[in-house]
Order: sequence, then C-alpha cells, then structure tokens
Amino acid sequence: MIVTATPNPAVDLTLSVRDLDRGGSQSVPPAQRRLGGKAVNVARVAAQQGIDVTAVLLGSVPDDLRAAGIPGVELVVVRTRTGIRSTYAIAEPETGAVTMLNETGAPRLPREWESFVDAVARARDTASCLVVSGSLPPDADLAHVRALVGGARAAGVPVIADLVGDALWAAAAAGADVVKPNRAELQRTVGYDDPEAGARALQHSGAGMVIVSLGEEGLIVVPPAGAPVHAALDRALRGNPTGAGDAAVASVAARIDRGEPLDATAVATAAVAWSAAAVLSPVAGTLDDRLPDLVARVRVR
Ligand SMILES: Nc1ncnc2c1ncn2[C@@H]1O[C@H](COP(=O)(O)OP(=O)(O)OP(=O)(O)O)[C@@H](O)[C@H]1O
Ligand SMILES: [Mg+2]
Repeated sequence: MIVTATPNPAVDLTLSVRDLDRGGSQSVPPAQRRLGGKAVNVARVAAQQGIDVTAVLLGSVPDDLRAAGIPGVELVVVRTRTGIRSTYAIAEPETGAVTMLNETGAPRLPREWESFVDAVARARDTASCLVVSGSLPPDADLAHVRALVGGARAAGVPVIADLVGDALWAAAAAGADVVKPNRAELQRTVGYDDPEAGARALQHSGAGMVIVSLGEEGLIVVPPAGAPVHAALDRALRGNPTGAGDAAVASVAARIDRGEPLDATAVATAAVAWSAAAVLSPVAGTLDDRLPDLVARVRVR
C-alpha cells in the first residue's frame, strides 16, 4: 500500500466553451468537477494500475466529491475551518487552447497542519512508501514538510517528494529518497538551469535520487551515487501532458511498492513509459492501455 499526501487539494473544474466571449456573458454546459491536486493524481494512476492507495488530504472536501471518492483509493480527509480551493480549466474546442486558473487556497491553522501530519503518520505506518506532492497552502510553515518527510524516514518508510522552491529544499534536507522537479521547477528552486548540477545541489542538501522531467524530451535520473541516465520515448507524442509528471511519480511509487530496487535505468524506463501512457490518455490520472508497447519505445543513454 502506498500513501499520498496532498497538502493543498482542489476541486478541479473544467469548462468546455465554444466561441469564448472574453468580457461578455454566455451560457455554458455544466462544468466537469472532480477532486484534484498532484498527489491525488498520483493516487488515481497508482490505483488504476492495481496498487492499494490511501490518499490523505488537508482540507474539507465537498461532501458529494467525498462520497463519490476515487476508484480504488481510500480517502482520508483532514477537515479544516474553510473549504478547499478550486482550479478552473477553460477549454476552447475550436482552437484546442486550455486556459488554467489555479486558486492558491487558504492558509491552514497550525492545529489543522498537525492533524494532517498525524493522519499521514498513521496511514504510512503500514505503507511501502509515502508520496508528498503539489503546492502548499499559503504561509505554510516548512516545519510541517520536514515533519512529513523526516517522520516517514525515521519510521523506515521511503518518501517521494514532488515539491518546488523552499518546500523542495525542506524535503531534500529531511532526506527525501526521491524528488521529481520538472526543469522549470528545478531552475526556480536552485536558481540555475543545468539539470545535473541542480540535482547534485539537492543531493548535497540531503535528497537521494533526483528525477528531472524535461517534458517531451523525457527525463534525467540522477542517482545518489553513479552516473545520470537520460531516457526518452523514441519520438514525442501528441496528447495531453497535464499530469504526466504525476504518472512518472506513480511509477516510482509502484516500483517501491513491488519491492523493486531503485536502479536508475529501470526507474527512468518505467517513468518515461508511464508518463507517455498518461500523455496518450485524454483523462488526467489514467494511463492508456498501450503502456507495454511504450516500454519498448523507451531509449536510454
Ligand atoms: N509530448 C510528450 N511525449 C512523450 N512523453 C512526454 C511528452 N510530454 C511529457 N512526456 C513525459 O512526461 C514526463 C513528465 O512531463 P513534464 O516534464 O511535463 O512533467 P510535469 O511538468 O511535472 O507535469 P505535471 O506536473 O503536469 O504532472 C516527461 O519526463 C516525459 O517522459
Ligand atoms: Mg509536475
């Protein structure tokens, strides 16, 4: 069983709008509405691939979405004084443009954070690994990130963190076993562009394996000791890249859950194939069933 921790979950709303009238008023069909946040997407993908998942969320989820749940995922909701944020995707089918507007969310009270850290600790007691992903609510005290990551490490549970900026530094310093920034997030965090040098800086501060995802150019896996491995698909795919990074994270969690070693080449191959299968799937949080063919199309160097 894996545990995913979502510090800043969201209600993801998707509106499909023909002839968007900017500044005007128009009627639209009902928005699609579902539970989101990066770690929630990781949970969806892992559960779809047959892994037992417990997803712990900090924030009161609307009752209907909580009741609907996520197939194969046990939801643990840590209630908060105010509800969770929304994200808005406005899709224009004529042009294919998708405009994303993401609320930052509300700050959480110290006792709400403490309940979240406790709930994650209880869930990960029996877990193979912990995934901590996504943004933090505004004004978050990084001590909570250190408690999530350091607590799991102290209990012998490996941690994968997909965080950015100070939160990524905090996770690295607390000894996260795997971190997965994309290129822009790594640049924003370390302040320079070279992925390998950035990865080594995170390792210097305490991180284990660093996976830098490079969009359609694949990814670089920098193991704690040994040479980096670059892997990519034989050619880029057309599709929906939203959540591809979350699928890569899910592939690493799946390896740990199956007791497979974190060999850089094997990690890179699976991460490229799973994320490519996410690109081919129109719905974020699911993998296309051509996953086995995609594994054969991964090129490693
Ligand atoms: N067009 C594409 N064709 C094939 N593979 C892709 C394509 N786009 C992304 N990928 C794969 O998905 C992985 C993750 O993509 P990316 O670097 O965009 O992650 P991300 O920005 O963290 O995404 P998100 O946070 O939305 O999940 C890449 O490392 C690559 O293997
Ligand atoms: Mg990402």
